[in-house]
Amino acid sequence: MRAQNCDCKVLAHREVTAGIRLLQVEWTDREHAPRAGQFYMLRCWRSDEAPLLSRPISVHEWDAEAGVVTFLYEVRGEGTRKLAALRPGDSLNLTGPAGNGWPVDQLLGKKVALVGGGIGTAPLLQLAKELAAAGEKPAMFCGFRDEPYRLDAFEPYCSGVAVATDSGRFGHHGLVTALYNSADYDVICCCGPTPMMKAATGLALEAGAEILVSLENKMACGIGACLGCTCHSRKKGAISVCKQGPVLKGEDVYG
Ligand code: FES
Repeated sequence: MRAQNCDCKVLAHREVTAGIRLLQVEWTDREHAPRAGQFYMLRCWRSDEAPLLSRPISVHEWDAEAGVVTFLYEVRGEGTRKLAALRPGDSLNLTGPAGNGWPVDQLLGKKVALVGGGIGTAPLLQLAKELAAAGEKPAMFCGFRDEPYRLDAFEPYCSGVAVATDSGRFGHHGLVTALYNSADYDVICCCGPTPMMKAATGLALEAGAEILVSLENKMACGIGACLGCTCHSRKKGAISVCKQGPVLKGEDVYG
């Protein structure tokens, strides 16, 4: 399915916690409905204005009935600072949905753990919702630097939500990978900082569990045309993250 490009209306936009924002945008193109784990390229500035590149942001939630796509993002550069200024009623250019997404059908009937780190928890919510809608609630494990966010959004769709923080202010004081035993699960679906995904991959492979990681590489075109997002794996060579990913087997990326 080809990614669409259109100007869409901002419906709601708020700060969830310092530097983390929740953006809801109208997406009425039901023929091109996003799947869990896919992303859009977002842009609210002119094509001749900096930054040059649109910002890839994964789908946090998709409400098919209302035609609303929700993004959860961290303000950490010029593009996201511009996005942060958007108000309800403003127009925003979206290109997408892009990427492969989580293979939800292949996860059914399996014991699934969702493992997220910081803003990497964002693409796991729609996955939890789709699994729960199919009658299977995954276990959720998430790590944050200090203050957790959006846990309440996950709770209805997960069998449990366990938290670790670097600061020790909430939940387990330490790494998210200490919260679970990979051997208890068939598949680990993971998104977060690279060291966390590498560690989670090592643990999963050791335990004989499958692991899928969602990469958050910098992107230029977002549709497989520029090689701007290529990652190099020993096993698979050059991988175009926007086209072949962003969801990939952990061993293909870190093996
Ligand atoms: Fe252009 Fe992936 S961003 S090929």
